[in-house]
Amino acid sequence: MIIAGNFKTNHTRSSTLSYAKGLNQFLRDRQFGAEVYLFPPMSALAYDDFSHFSIGAQNAYPVCGGAYTGEIGLDQLNELQIKTLMIGHSERRVLLGESDQICQRKFEFFAHHGMNIFLCVGESLEVRQAQKVREFLALQLSGIDLSYARLIVAYEPIWAIGTGVSASLIEIQETHAILKDLGCSRVVYGGSVNPQNAREIMSLDGVDGVLVGGASLRLESFCEIIENGEMK
Ligand code: PGA
Repeated sequence: MIIAGNFKTNHTRSSTLSYAKGLNQFLRDRQFGAEVYLFPPMSALAYDDFSHFSIGAQNAYPVCGGAYTGEIGLDQLNELQIKTLMIGHSERRVLLGESDQICQRKFEFFAHHGMNIFLCVGESLEVRQAQKVREFLALQLSGIDLSYARLIVAYEPIWAIGTGVSASLIEIQETHAILKDLGCSRVVYGGSVNPQNAREIMSLDGVDGVLVGGASLRLESFCEIIENGEMK
Protein backbone atom coordinates (compact mmCIF):
# COMPACT_ATOMS: atom_id res chain seq x y z
CA MET A 1 0.00 0.00 0.00
CA ILE A 2 1.01 3.58 -0.67
CA ILE A 3 0.05 5.97 2.12
CA ALA A 4 0.70 9.68 1.79
CA GLY A 5 -0.03 12.63 4.05
CA ASN A 6 -0.60 16.08 2.58
CA PHE A 7 -0.20 18.85 5.14
CA LYS A 8 -1.19 21.58 2.63
CA THR A 9 -0.58 24.92 4.43
CA ASN A 10 -0.59 23.40 7.92
CA HIS A 11 2.17 22.74 10.44
CA THR A 12 5.30 24.79 10.99
CA ARG A 13 8.85 23.72 10.29
CA SER A 14 9.37 22.76 13.93
CA SER A 15 6.09 20.85 14.30
CA THR A 16 6.77 19.06 11.00
CA LEU A 17 10.21 17.96 12.16
CA SER A 18 8.91 16.52 15.41
CA TYR A 19 6.05 14.83 13.52
CA ALA A 20 8.52 13.38 11.00
CA LYS A 21 10.74 11.98 13.76
CA GLY A 22 7.71 10.39 15.42
CA LEU A 23 6.52 8.93 12.12
CA ASN A 24 9.93 7.49 11.33
CA GLN A 25 10.15 5.89 14.76
CA PHE A 26 6.63 4.44 14.44
CA LEU A 27 7.47 2.93 11.06
CA ARG A 28 10.79 1.60 12.28
CA ASP A 29 9.29 -0.01 15.40
CA ARG A 30 6.37 -1.58 13.57
CA GLN A 31 8.19 -2.69 10.41
CA PHE A 32 5.29 -1.88 8.11
CA GLY A 33 5.46 -2.84 4.47
CA ALA A 34 3.66 0.33 3.32
CA GLU A 35 5.33 2.93 1.11
CA VAL A 36 4.80 6.13 3.14
CA TYR A 37 5.16 9.73 1.94
CA LEU A 38 4.76 13.05 3.70
CA PHE A 39 4.12 16.34 1.89
CA PRO A 40 4.79 19.22 4.31
CA PRO A 41 4.54 22.90 3.37
CA MET A 42 7.47 24.34 1.43
CA SER A 43 8.97 26.12 4.46
CA ALA A 44 9.11 22.82 6.34
CA LEU A 45 10.84 20.78 3.64
CA ALA A 46 13.70 18.96 5.32
CA TYR A 47 16.50 16.74 4.12
CA ASP A 48 14.88 13.54 2.98
CA ASP A 49 17.06 11.35 5.13
CA PHE A 50 14.31 9.60 7.04
CA SER A 51 14.88 5.94 6.45
CA HIS A 52 11.28 4.71 6.67
CA PHE A 53 9.33 7.23 4.60
CA SER A 54 9.90 9.86 1.94
CA ILE A 55 9.39 13.59 2.05
CA GLY A 56 7.75 15.15 -0.98
CA ALA A 57 7.14 18.68 -2.21
CA GLN A 58 3.56 19.81 -2.78
CA ASN A 59 4.62 21.81 -5.82
CA ALA A 60 7.62 22.92 -7.84
CA TYR A 61 8.22 24.82 -11.06
CA PRO A 62 9.58 22.89 -14.08
CA VAL A 63 13.03 24.50 -14.14
CA CYS A 64 16.37 23.91 -12.44
CA GLY A 65 16.39 27.51 -11.24
CA GLY A 66 15.98 31.07 -12.55
CA ALA A 67 13.67 34.06 -12.28
CA TYR A 68 10.40 32.49 -11.07
CA THR A 69 9.47 34.48 -7.99
CA GLY A 70 7.72 32.47 -5.33
CA GLU A 71 8.56 29.10 -6.83
CA ILE A 72 11.20 26.46 -6.20
CA GLY A 73 12.79 24.27 -8.86
CA LEU A 74 14.92 21.18 -9.21
CA ASP A 75 18.07 22.73 -7.69
CA GLN A 76 16.28 23.46 -4.44
CA LEU A 77 14.73 19.98 -4.31
CA ASN A 78 18.06 18.32 -5.09
CA GLU A 79 19.80 20.18 -2.29
CA LEU A 80 17.39 18.54 0.17
CA GLN A 81 17.54 15.21 -1.67
CA ILE A 82 13.82 15.37 -2.25
CA LYS A 83 12.83 12.91 -4.93
CA THR A 84 9.06 13.08 -4.71
CA LEU A 85 6.75 15.75 -6.09
CA MET A 86 3.01 16.32 -6.13
CA ILE A 87 1.59 17.81 -9.31
CA GLY A 88 -1.86 19.16 -10.05
CA HIS A 89 -3.59 19.07 -6.68
CA SER A 90 -7.12 20.39 -7.20
CA GLU A 91 -6.47 23.27 -4.80
CA ARG A 92 -3.71 24.43 -7.15
CA ARG A 93 -5.84 23.84 -10.22
CA VAL A 94 -8.94 25.59 -8.81
CA LEU A 95 -7.49 28.33 -6.58
CA LEU A 96 -4.30 29.09 -8.51
CA GLY A 97 -5.44 28.42 -12.06
CA GLU A 98 -3.01 25.58 -12.75
CA SER A 99 -3.95 24.14 -16.15
CA ASP A 100 -3.61 20.64 -17.57
CA GLN A 101 -0.87 22.09 -19.82
CA ILE A 102 1.28 23.32 -16.94
CA CYS A 103 0.76 20.00 -15.15
CA GLN A 104 1.99 18.23 -18.30
CA ARG A 105 5.07 20.46 -18.46
CA LYS A 106 5.82 19.78 -14.81
CA PHE A 107 5.36 16.05 -15.36
CA GLU A 108 7.65 16.02 -18.40
CA PHE A 109 10.40 17.98 -16.71
CA PHE A 110 10.42 16.17 -13.39
CA ALA A 111 9.90 12.72 -14.92
CA HIS A 112 12.89 13.46 -17.15
CA HIS A 113 14.83 14.01 -13.92
CA GLY A 114 13.63 10.72 -12.45
CA MET A 115 11.41 12.01 -9.64
CA ASN A 116 8.57 10.08 -8.03
CA ILE A 117 5.45 11.91 -9.11
CA PHE A 118 2.02 12.00 -7.49
CA LEU A 119 -0.25 13.38 -10.21
CA CYS A 120 -3.60 14.44 -8.78
CA VAL A 121 -6.71 14.18 -10.92
CA GLY A 122 -10.38 14.37 -10.06
CA GLU A 123 -13.68 15.77 -11.19
CA SER A 124 -16.08 18.37 -9.83
CA LEU A 125 -19.60 17.48 -8.76
CA GLU A 126 -20.98 18.99 -11.99
CA VAL A 127 -18.82 16.70 -14.10
CA ARG A 128 -19.90 13.67 -12.07
CA GLN A 129 -23.57 14.61 -12.28
CA ALA A 130 -23.24 15.06 -16.04
CA GLN A 131 -21.75 11.53 -16.18
CA LYS A 132 -18.61 12.81 -17.86
CA VAL A 133 -16.08 11.44 -15.38
CA ARG A 134 -14.21 9.21 -17.82
CA GLU A 135 -13.83 11.94 -20.46
CA PHE A 136 -12.73 14.45 -17.84
CA LEU A 137 -10.08 12.18 -16.34
CA ALA A 138 -8.84 11.19 -19.80
CA LEU A 139 -8.33 14.89 -20.55
CA GLN A 140 -6.40 15.46 -17.31
CA LEU A 141 -4.16 12.52 -18.22
CA SER A 142 -3.59 13.47 -21.83
CA GLY A 143 0.07 14.15 -22.56
CA ILE A 144 1.16 12.23 -19.45
CA ASP A 145 3.37 9.19 -20.07
CA LEU A 146 1.39 6.67 -18.02
CA SER A 147 4.10 4.06 -18.46
CA TYR A 148 6.47 6.17 -16.34
CA ALA A 149 7.42 3.73 -13.56
CA ARG A 150 7.65 6.37 -10.84
CA LEU A 151 4.15 7.74 -11.43
CA ILE A 152 1.40 7.44 -8.83
CA VAL A 153 -1.96 8.82 -9.88
CA ALA A 154 -4.02 10.24 -7.02
CA TYR A 155 -7.75 10.16 -7.72
CA GLU A 156 -9.23 12.98 -5.67
CA PRO A 157 -12.81 13.97 -6.51
CA ILE A 158 -12.98 17.70 -5.74
CA TRP A 159 -16.31 17.36 -3.96
CA ALA A 160 -14.83 14.88 -1.46
CA ILE A 161 -11.74 16.91 -0.48
CA GLY A 162 -11.90 18.44 2.96
CA THR A 163 -15.66 17.99 3.12
CA GLY A 164 -15.73 15.08 5.55
CA VAL A 165 -17.75 13.13 2.96
CA SER A 166 -15.61 10.72 1.02
CA ALA A 167 -16.75 9.22 -2.28
CA SER A 168 -18.75 6.03 -1.77
CA LEU A 169 -16.95 2.71 -2.02
CA ILE A 170 -18.75 2.00 -5.29
CA GLU A 171 -17.77 5.38 -6.74
CA ILE A 172 -14.15 4.86 -5.72
CA GLN A 173 -14.00 1.34 -7.14
CA GLU A 174 -15.68 2.32 -10.42
CA THR A 175 -13.47 5.35 -10.93
CA HIS A 176 -10.26 3.49 -10.12
CA ALA A 177 -11.34 0.89 -12.68
CA ILE A 178 -11.70 3.70 -15.24
CA LEU A 179 -8.22 5.01 -14.40
CA LYS A 180 -6.69 1.54 -14.67
CA ASP A 181 -8.48 1.09 -17.96
CA LEU A 182 -7.02 4.40 -19.17
CA GLY A 183 -3.56 2.97 -18.45
CA CYS A 184 -2.68 4.13 -14.93
CA SER A 185 -0.84 1.43 -13.04
CA ARG A 186 -0.73 2.74 -9.46
CA VAL A 187 -3.77 4.70 -8.28
CA VAL A 188 -4.38 6.03 -4.76
CA TYR A 189 -7.61 7.58 -3.50
CA GLY A 190 -7.86 10.93 -1.71
CA GLY A 191 -10.82 12.83 -0.31
CA SER A 192 -11.88 12.72 3.36
CA VAL A 193 -9.95 9.54 4.15
CA ASN A 194 -9.82 8.99 7.92
CA PRO A 195 -8.96 6.18 10.35
CA GLN A 196 -12.58 4.96 10.23
CA ASN A 197 -12.97 4.56 6.47
CA ALA A 198 -9.36 3.88 5.43
CA ARG A 199 -9.41 0.12 5.74
CA GLU A 200 -12.53 -0.37 3.61
CA ILE A 201 -11.23 2.03 0.97
CA MET A 202 -7.83 0.34 0.82
CA SER A 203 -9.39 -3.09 0.52
CA LEU A 204 -11.17 -2.16 -2.74
CA ASP A 205 -9.97 -3.61 -6.01
CA GLY A 206 -7.87 -1.12 -7.93
CA VAL A 207 -7.00 0.98 -4.87
CA ASP A 208 -3.25 1.00 -4.28
CA GLY A 209 -3.30 3.34 -1.31
CA VAL A 210 -4.55 6.68 -0.01
CA LEU A 211 -3.60 10.36 -0.04
CA VAL A 212 -4.72 11.90 3.24
CA GLY A 213 -5.17 15.61 3.98
CA GLY A 214 -6.95 16.61 7.20
CA ALA A 215 -6.58 13.24 8.92
CA SER A 216 -2.81 13.27 8.41
CA LEU A 217 -2.32 16.40 10.50
CA ARG A 218 -2.29 14.48 13.77
CA LEU A 219 0.42 11.83 13.85
CA GLU A 220 -1.76 9.39 15.83
CA SER A 221 -4.49 9.49 13.23
CA PHE A 222 -2.06 9.11 10.31
CA CYS A 223 -0.45 6.13 12.07
CA GLU A 224 -3.89 4.55 12.52
CA ILE A 225 -4.48 4.87 8.79
CA ILE A 226 -1.12 3.23 8.09
CA GLU A 227 -2.08 0.36 10.45
CA ASN A 228 -5.39 -0.01 8.63
CA GLY A 229 -3.55 -0.36 5.34
CA GLU A 230 -1.57 -3.27 6.76
CA MET A 231 -4.68 -5.07 7.93
CA LYS A 232 -6.47 -5.09 4.60
P1 PGA B 1 -8.69 15.64 2.79
O1 PGA B 1 -7.69 16.14 1.66
O2 PGA B 1 -8.20 14.29 3.25
O3 PGA B 1 -8.62 16.67 3.88
O4 PGA B 1 -10.05 15.55 2.17
C1 PGA B 1 -7.13 15.26 0.73
C2 PGA B 1 -6.25 16.00 -0.23
O5 PGA B 1 -6.60 17.12 -0.62
O6 PGA B 1 -5.20 15.50 -0.62
